[in-house]
Amino acid sequence: MKRTYTILLCLCFFALQNATAQDAKMKTHIDGLLKKMTVGEKIGQLNLVVSGWVPTGTTVSQDTEEKITSGKVGGMFGYYDPVRMKAIQQIAVEKSRLKIPLFFGLDVIHGHRTIFPIPLGMSATWDMALVEKSARIAAQEATAEGLNWTFSPMVDIARDPRWGRISEGGGEDPYLGSQIARALVHGYQGDDLSKNNSLMACVKHYALYGGAEAGRDYNTVDMSRSSMYNYYLPPYKAAVEAGVGSVMTSFNVVDEVPATANRWLMTDLLRNQWGFKGFVVTDYTAINEMTSHGLGDLQTVSALALKAGVDMDMVGEGFLTTLKKSLDEKKITMADIDLACRRILEAKWKMGLFDDPYRRLDPSRPAKEIMTPENRKAAREIASHSFVLLKNDNQILPLAKAGKTVAFVGPFADNHRDMLGTWVIGGEWEKSVSVMEGVKNVAPQLATLFAKGSNITDDTAFIHRLNFFGQKMVTLDAISPETLLRNALETAARADAIVAVLGESQSMSGESSSRTDIGIPDSQRKLLEELVKTGKPVVLVLFTGRPLTLEWEQQHCAAILNVWAPGTEAGNAIADVLFGDVNPSGKLTATFPRSVGQIPLYYNHKPTGRPYNGSYQTKFSSNYLDSPNEELYPFGYGIGYSPFVYEEMKLSSAKLSGNGSLTASIKVSNTGKYAGEEVVQLYIGDPVASISRPVKELKGFQKIILKAGESKLVTFNITTNDLKFYDNSLKYDWEAGEFRISIGGNSRDVKVGTVVWEKNLKP
Ligand code: BGC
Repeated sequence: MKRTYTILLCLCFFALQNATAQDAKMKTHIDGLLKKMTVGEKIGQLNLVVSGWVPTGTTVSQDTEEKITSGKVGGMFGYYDPVRMKAIQQIAVEKSRLKIPLFFGLDVIHGHRTIFPIPLGMSATWDMALVEKSARIAAQEATAEGLNWTFSPMVDIARDPRWGRISEGGGEDPYLGSQIARALVHGYQGDDLSKNNSLMACVKHYALYGGAEAGRDYNTVDMSRSSMYNYYLPPYKAAVEAGVGSVMTSFNVVDEVPATANRWLMTDLLRNQWGFKGFVVTDYTAINEMTSHGLGDLQTVSALALKAGVDMDMVGEGFLTTLKKSLDEKKITMADIDLACRRILEAKWKMGLFDDPYRRLDPSRPAKEIMTPENRKAAREIASHSFVLLKNDNQILPLAKAGKTVAFVGPFADNHRDMLGTWVIGGEWEKSVSVMEGVKNVAPQLATLFAKGSNITDDTAFIHRLNFFGQKMVTLDAISPETLLRNALETAARADAIVAVLGESQSMSGESSSRTDIGIPDSQRKLLEELVKTGKPVVLVLFTGRPLTLEWEQQHCAAILNVWAPGTEAGNAIADVLFGDVNPSGKLTATFPRSVGQIPLYYNHKPTGRPYNGSYQTKFSSNYLDSPNEELYPFGYGIGYSPFVYEEMKLSSAKLSGNGSLTASIKVSNTGKYAGEEVVQLYIGDPVASISRPVKELKGFQKIILKAGESKLVTFNITTNDLKFYDNSLKYDWEAGEFRISIGGNSRDVKVGTVVWEKNLKP
């Protein structure tokens, strides 16, 4: 024991010594470089240009090659082609005066070529090993195609499903969001940023981007500091603690100041308090957009951004075109420019680019590493674990693989394009597996029928907006809606059961895709109503990038399987679950409201002084005249093919002090006939404190596997760290008193116990 300890200590010592030696070497190199650089070349390193792929803003970079040659570019994003990128890197390291290599970035968000579920779906796995695996595979594929930097993870907490970008994050909870942030950063960056298959991560959008008022993208945010610290900031902080190499600013204001010019955010908090050592890049033209925020002209806002702690300017070239003037006019200093430039160069050093600028530009890699059978296998496994079964009356699911005739109806049943979801720049929808193909693969003996039934939407103006990235993303069928419907009903008449495959198309969620009506589009809803009228059981397989309002569907469908946008292996993964090869185990990470009128609706809300008592007819209590307060499906919710029964929870003590620790245990049994996985969730409530605290907060979870009939005792260890929160003076501590400990399979249905935790228990 003692010997192992000594060996460990020695290893740590040598690792530390090696790191210090590396740091010293890096410093010498960069000091030398900075001495040689002109002001223009330094400012050039702060410039990020876009090329190739369709951009996410209205401005695009011009004269890129000339700019690289003259040292006016620090990085580029948009390509994922090692041959072309090698040629571009050659310009930087052979033609530019100081031969400084470029970053090559891209939005690799939920897979690069092999596409995994959208991040909201991925979060529903509650499985950090799977989340990390998806990022590792994405990094392997992305680096094989020349990339060294991804604009991911997006960890914006979101409580408003109208916001299209809720699809890109891990939902509404800071604890879960922080775990996901860590897993993704580790997955992308690996254990050493300089390795050929390591991809530098960029946590975004710092900060509070998910708090956009009215769920409208790019809209303003207004929030108290304690809300920021307790609910919205933890996932960014977790990414920083996990060693994320870069941070992206957000488009919104934070405390009235745009994030991109917010020195408190970028320097005081991020660097001085959290100890972030990497570099900060803006979001797309975020510096230029500060003129519309009313902060001044381009020169002013560029200087403000640099002073606040921004190091790299994405696309807008405010830095490139104005910083020299600001320096001459003494609005900024040489030290400001040097600092930003040093941070960019340090990142390039850590990524091994000075050693070998071509290290991820090996054109022989893609053929061996892209979309391998193993990667597709992982995509199938991860997707099937992200699906959330919302309802399953009379155990209609899983379906038998033979013996009955099943009609698959809906515009997503025989569809490849919408399998992948938002942010799939490298993803090829032609290579995705449709639902019909998956069903044939998994249940080849089954008698199946297919009918499209409806357009995704009949609204041509809506279609026009959905087709921003390509004219054929959503189309109107040549057959009239009436005939589509009639054909579907004729098909359904010949079947024993109906699987309706409906929902949102790829472009209905994601950036700049907010919706005020978050129901299934009318054309599809009408189809569903007609299918239900046949009296045959209807299973709804739902594609969505956000929580939808599904009250009618909940009342009328026999089963609802929410599959998000599952990625390349969509059809296979869906069939695995529909036919019971995989027992669904996903749990929601964002609350599903009954109606848009209830938004924002989230589980970790504060109590009110006039609490809702379960009846919405009560006067002078916090409720609606026309709707219950309750959500349709709570955070953490999801069922499987076997029920999991929770016995009463046992707490190790009813009263404890200071540094003591508590265990909460609960016996969970699988009382059904299928083996399955269950996410056992621990929540803590702090009913009396110096500020009003949420009714409950997630503080732990365990994913367990139980065979049919098996039981397990699940134990959580709780310490005072789990009780801490930021008060109004932003002191992070716990306060003595009573705590409500809850455990359950979702945030609503829990077993509760109480414990009194004193600072120092009197004898
Ligand atoms: C988005 C970012 C993205 C960037 C580059 C912006 O419009 O907000 O999330 O990383 O474009 O594509």
